[in-house]
Amino acid sequence: GAPVEVFIGNLEPGQLARVQWRGSTIGIMRRTERMLADLDKLDDRLRDPESSNLDQQPEYARNQHRSIRPEILVLNVHCTHLGCIPQAIPEVGAQPFDANWLGGFFCPCHRSTFDLAGRVYAGVPASSNLLVPPYSFIDDENVIIG
Ligand code: FES
Repeated sequence: GAPVEVFIGNLEPGQLARVQWRGSTIGIMRRTERMLADLDKLDDRLRDPESSNLDQQPEYARNQHRSIRPEILVLNVHCTHLGCIPQAIPEVGAQPFDANWLGGFFCPCHRSTFDLAGRVYAGVPASSNLLVPPYSFIDDENVIIG
């Protein structure tokens, strides 16, 4: 499939834009300072906090925020368990099955959870982090997936 250009200039903090690329749904979220700071608190609840599985993201996204620009998350949002599309639940405490929720993705199919960098929680059916597709920035407001 051809690369897809996405305008992100009007993306609100916490908002997830969705585009289709190569038959997959790609989500793009603008994260806040709070969301980025909270990524630091989750290591002991995650299965692979360092994204050590190299197949999960391009090299330039192998960092704590799993992205090129810290605030802009670009993610293949299909659950790594069986491919359902998780709900984006960016707000603290807003996930009904986790009183300590710091924001992330919740898969309604079998309750896998991922943080706001797409890192999978320990003890859920999905065993790997959400995939980061190849992407690059044209400028501050435009990104190319693929
Ligand atoms: Fe997401 Fe099973 S498909 S938890």
